[in-house]
Amino acid sequence: MRWRLALLVAAAMTLVLLAFLVPLALLLRGVAADRAVSAAMTQAQSLGVLVATADPQSLRLAVEQVNVDASRPITVYLPDGAVVGPAAGRTPGVSLAARSGSFSVEHPDGREVLVAVQGLPQGTAVIRVFVPRAELRKGVTRAWLVLALLGVGLLAVGVAVADRLAVMVVRPIRSLAEVSDALAGGDLDRRAPATAGPPEVRAVAAALNQLAARIRDLLRSERERVADLSHRMRTPMTALRLDAEGLRDQAEADRILAHVAALDRAVTTVIEDARRERDVPACDATEVVAERVRFWTVLAEDQGRPVSTELPDGPLPVAVSAADLAACVDALLGNVFAHTEEGVAVSVTLDGHRVLTVQDAGPGFDPAAGARGVSGAGSTGLGLDIARRTAGGALTVDRSPLGGARVTVTLNALTEP
Ligand SMILES: Nc1ncnc2c1ncn2[C@@H]1O[C@H](COP(=O)(O)OP(=O)(O)OP(=O)(O)O)[C@@H](O)[C@H]1O
Ligand SMILES: [Mg+2]
Repeated sequence: MRWRLALLVAAAMTLVLLAFLVPLALLLRGVAADRAVSAAMTQAQSLGVLVATADPQSLRLAVEQVNVDASRPITVYLPDGAVVGPAAGRTPGVSLAARSGSFSVEHPDGREVLVAVQGLPQGTAVIRVFVPRAELRKGVTRAWLVLALLGVGLLAVGVAVADRLAVMVVRPIRSLAEVSDALAGGDLDRRAPATAGPPEVRAVAAALNQLAARIRDLLRSERERVADLSHRMRTPMTALRLDAEGLRDQAEADRILAHVAALDRAVTTVIEDARRERDVPACDATEVVAERVRFWTVLAEDQGRPVSTELPDGPLPVAVSAADLAACVDALLGNVFAHTEEGVAVSVTLDGHRVLTVQDAGPGFDPAAGARGVSGAGSTGLGLDIARRTAGGALTVDRSPLGGARVTVTLNALTEP
């Protein structure tokens, strides 16, 4: 945009300067020619007095003297046919001037000024002054050069001023673009400077800031809504806890109460997570996966499922929040428990390259079945998509060496800020 504005101003100024300078240059050329012609005319007229009064000898001497340093050769044609001065043929102009008076005539190499001296006893004498083209154009080239320099200088100043103005407009627009990029990238606290640039750009900045504030408010109220909805689960959970406490078999009651407590913790985590302002997500994957596997192992034991686990020896930092990673592991293990028979083996591994693999010895499934909202078991069809989004899309489904499904998720590395 900056270059386009400069180009536009340069084009407009060039047109204006041409419209102004070209006629001025032509006028200057005309003035120079007129000046040379009128000087020649004055010279011829002053010689005319001599032609009328002096004897031929004095006239010859005077004409020779005038022609010594004159850039305009002067010739006098006397009425008796004698010619005084540089030998120049009697041009048609000379004959015409002798008959009808003074005038000047244009030639390819200059201008011929003819002054008729009337009232001589033998007739009319004619003084011819030839003004060469170089004399007609004297000083014109320099004047044109000055005009051209003036034009170029004005153009340069105009383009420089236009460029400064363009920068004043373009810079705030660029900063607006950066702010909207940052907002699109999730940095909802970024704001555009609403004091820079022309009023229109300031208005756009104010509108962008308003939009950013509105998006942040909407997200905040949406998070609060999710928290409120999650909170509604507490009532059925309380009913479940009371029912469990009323069971006669104490071991059974303890088991169900432990599950209800786990559910309660999960709901609390969801509420806290929904209400929390997002910052850079990070957790120790080894710890989170180990904790979720411990949770599911209790259920697996109940169902007679062999569980094998392979985790890194030390912490494994990943760019995923603990709650999101736990939800991912729960979705994958939940699928094994929901879509395979009791007693089917399950294996969870996490390697040093942040690859989490959950596999089983069940029937397996078609990877195409993992689209969001599509369930092969009459459920909500969200589990695989939750896991996929946790890994930023890096989820694959294939056959496990155990015979069933193998779901592989590659978690993002935590980069140093
Ligand atoms: N381990 C598995 N073994 C067999 N089939 C599976 C397995 N995991 C997923 N599937 C199939 O993939 C489908 C999609 O799984 P997904 O977790 O996305 O949804 P869902 O389990 O049906 O619903 P939700 O997880 O929302 O309760 C399942 O309905 C099921 O048919
Ligand atoms: Mg599922």
